[in-house]
Amino acid sequence: MWGGRFEEAPDDVMWAYTVSHTDRRLLADDITGSQAHVTMLVDVGLIGRDEGEMLLEGLSQIRAEAEEGHFVFSDSDEDVHSAVERRLGELVGAVGGKLHTGRSRNDQIALDMRLYLRRRCEDHSEALARFIGVLADLAAEHAETVVASYTHLQQAQAVPLGHHFLAYAWMLMRDRARLADLRVRLDVSPLGANASGGSSLPLDPRRVADGLGMAGVFENSLDAVSARDLLSEFTFCGTQAMVTLSRLAEELVLWSSAEFGWVTFADRHTTGSSALPHKKNPDIAEHARGRSADAIGALTSLLVIQKGLPLAYNSDLQGDKAHVFRVDDILASTLPTLAAMLQAADFHPPAPSSWTSALDLAEVLVQRGVPFRAAHEAVGRLVSGLLA
Ligand code: ARG
Repeated sequence: MWGGRFEEAPDDVMWAYTVSHTDRRLLADDITGSQAHVTMLVDVGLIGRDEGEMLLEGLSQIRAEAEEGHFVFSDSDEDVHSAVERRLGELVGAVGGKLHTGRSRNDQIALDMRLYLRRRCEDHSEALARFIGVLADLAAEHAETVVASYTHLQQAQAVPLGHHFLAYAWMLMRDRARLADLRVRLDVSPLGANASGGSSLPLDPRRVADGLGMAGVFENSLDAVSARDLLSEFTFCGTQAMVTLSRLAEELVLWSSAEFGWVTFADRHTTGSSALPHKKNPDIAEHARGRSADAIGALTSLLVIQKGLPLAYNSDLQGDKAHVFRVDDILASTLPTLAAMLQAADFHPPAPSSWTSALDLAEVLVQRGVPFRAAHEAVGRLVSGLLA
């Protein structure tokens, strides 16, 4: 692909160190981008119609191979883009060399990630909606189950258990809204930015964007190939959702303890101890809580990769994907697993202490004209006397 100026083949140690396998999940999106690119090249007359047809047929065949699971990556493929170009050459011969006209892997990877994340925003949004549905069902079931709400992990005011579940539902609704917002920003095609400074060829980036159903076209070529803020944003959305799920998971662990006794999980969603015969461990919740740490680590790594980079593309950026996909996978696996555990759980919290009505009592006095401070003091003394 770039052998022309080299006298030596790449050293095995360098190849093993620098080749990317992580990007293989972008195969379908890479093909989609190439199809739109070829169509544009034909439309503006940079390649002939027959050539365009050959390239498009080759790309369709590669897509079929990918979908049927027998696309074969070769050791000589540097990344997913080179794999597709290599296979296209095998299928259509020398005309395959026209695919990369007016394009660089730098604008190509920026496009592939936008196409991939566009899909994943939808997938996560649907998965979040299903999880929120489980919380809403539990809330309806426990609209009358009274529990203590807590501040400082001390019993505060009485609330329905359903209210507690819905707090998580609202947090996750905002994660969905953030993904929907990001989906709009992702809808800009960077193709045409080329390596860094565009192309002398009469490319038509607008046509490529239209072909991909993308609303916008890049405004600045350096930004188009080097910015990874949208990857950070996606990874943040996933990490924030994991942090919320981790808080819920922590409560589930706490509530399943003998001390709380609020919930019993189905046997099939718990694990036993190799040593202690009586144990029943809330493993799913613990794993979810633990994986949120991985997500935070991945988000941190992704941000740190970007912080010292001069414009425009730098190979450090090849490492961005592992972190994005890590959070992507963590969220995708946590949502349905935690949902299954919640759906089968039996919630039976004990009634809260009557002290959770102390504020209500003070407010009865307020309704009768007593200043709130004095009412607070009076109820406080009552509590103190009863506790003595
Ligand atoms: N494989 C690279 C990535 O994943 C894209 C190619 C970048 N260009 C280059 N000359 N190495 O970011």
